[in-house]
Amino acid sequence: MTSNCPPLARLGFGFRQKWTATPRHATFLRMLDQAVSDTKFMRQALALARRALGCTSPNPMVGAILVKSNRILGRGWHHRAGLPHAEIEALRDAAQKGHSTRGATLYVTLEPCSTHGRTPPCTDAVCKAGIRRVVVAATDPNPVHAGGGLEILRRSGIEVATGILEWESNQLNEAFNHWIVHKTPFVTVKAAMTMDGKIATAGGESKWITSPASRQFAMRLRRAADAILVGVNTVIADNPSLTVRSSDLNARKPLGRLRIVLDPRARTPLNSEILTDAFCPLTRVIVTDAAPRRRIQALEDCATVVRAPSHNDGIDLPWLLQHLGVQGITNLLVEGGGETHAHFLNSACTHRVAFFYAPKIVGGRTARRAAAGDGARRREDFPILKDVRTTRVGPDLFYTARVASSAQQTSSQA
Ligand SMILES: NC(=O)c1ccc[n+]([C@@H]2O[C@H](COP(=O)([O-])OP(=O)(O)OC[C@H]3O[C@@H](n4cnc5c(N)ncnc54)[C@H](OP(=O)(O)O)[C@@H]3O)[C@@H](O)[C@H]2O)c1
Repeated sequence: MTSNCPPLARLGFGFRQKWTATPRHATFLRMLDQAVSDTKFMRQALALARRALGCTSPNPMVGAILVKSNRILGRGWHHRAGLPHAEIEALRDAAQKGHSTRGATLYVTLEPCSTHGRTPPCTDAVCKAGIRRVVVAATDPNPVHAGGGLEILRRSGIEVATGILEWESNQLNEAFNHWIVHKTPFVTVKAAMTMDGKIATAGGESKWITSPASRQFAMRLRRAADAILVGVNTVIADNPSLTVRSSDLNARKPLGRLRIVLDPRARTPLNSEILTDAFCPLTRVIVTDAAPRRRIQALEDCATVVRAPSHNDGIDLPWLLQHLGVQGITNLLVEGGGETHAHFLNSACTHRVAFFYAPKIVGGRTARRAAAGDGARRREDFPILKDVRTTRVGPDLFYTARVASSAQQTSSQA
C-alpha cells in the first residue's frame, strides 16, 4: 500500500478502492489514525516501564519510545533511582542504533521532569534532540511540578498530547503517586484465606491455604513492595522469611525487602529467620515502652529496633507510616496476621486490599480470621471497598479493591 493511501486503509479497514474523501474526512481519519497509533505505542511504553517492577523506588516506573514515520527508533525505561530516566534511555538507544531523532515523536508514560534532581532535567534533552511531538500518559503527580515539564516543551515549540492511557499509567504507579503527595507509604493489606475468611486453623496452621499459583502471584506483590510488615504472632507461628522468591522472574536467589515486625513487647524469637538470615540488616522491629530493656538489647544485636509511640493500646500506625515515608518507603505490604490487619483497617491506614480466596472452608469459632480484633460495632464504621477487581488464579480467586473510607464517610459524601 502506498503512503498516500488513507490512514485507516493501512490498518486494514478495507479502503482498497481509489480514495475520494473530502478534506474534512481526511482530517478526521488522520486524527483517528493518530489516536490508534498513539495508543499502540503508549501501550508498548507501559510494557517497558513494567520491566522495572520493584526496582525504581522511590522513583516511579516509566517507559519511553521514540517513533518516526511509524518506525521505532529507540526504547528505554527507568531502571533504578539515580540512573537515567526513560526518555534519556530511549534517546541513547536511538543514538546507538545510528538514528536521528530530529522530527520524531516521543511516547513517555509520565511527564518528563523539568527540574534538577539526581539527574539533569529530561525536558532539556528532549528539546536538544529535535523532537517534534511528545505524547504523555500521565502528568507528574507531584503538585509542585505537575504540568511544568509540559509547559516547557510547549514553549519550545514542541507539540504535546496528554492523557493517552493515563489510567493505566496511574495504576502502574499507584504507590508512588500516593507517596509523592502524602509522604507516607501506600498500604496494601494482603491475606490468603478460605471462602469463609479464615487465614489459619484454630491450631494456627496456615501453610498452605492457597494454591502454588496464588503464592507465585503473591510474590509479585512482594516484588512491587518496598517493605513487608507482619505482626509478631505471625513470626512466632510461621517463622517467615518475607523475601521475594520467584521462578518466573529470573530471581533464583531471594531478593531482600525491608521487613517490619509490629512487636510492642519485643517478643520476636531471637532464632527467627528474619533475625538470623542474610537479610537481617533489613529487619526493623517496632517496639513500644512496654518492651523490656533486656529484650530490646538482644534484638538490637540482630536487627534495627524502632521505638514507636503508643496509641489506643497499640503502636501508633499513622506515626509509623510517617516514619517509613521519610525513609522513602513508598509501597508497604501488610501480610498478616488477622490482628495486624484489623489494626490497619480500623485506623484508616489501608489503601488497598489484596485477598486470595481458596475454594476451602475451615469453619469453627476459633479459626483465625483475616480481619480479627473486635470488628466494627456499627454499620457506619466498617471500611467500604471500591474499584473491585477479581481474577482467577489457578483454583483460587484473587480479589483486589481500593479502601474508599468508612461507611459513614461514604454516605455523608454521597
Ligand atoms: N493466611 C495468611 O495470609 C496469613 C498471613 C499471616 C499470618 N497468618 C496466620 O495468622 C496467625 C497470626 O495472626 P494473629 O492475628 O494471631 O497475630 P498477628 O497479627 O500476626 O500479630 C498480632 C500481634 O502483633 C502485635 N501487633 C500487631 N499490630 C499491632 C499494633 N497496631 N499495635 C501494637 N501491636 C500490634 C501485637 O503483639 P502483642 O500481643 O505483643 O501486643 C499483636 O498481638 C498465625 O496463625 C499465622 O499463621 C496467616
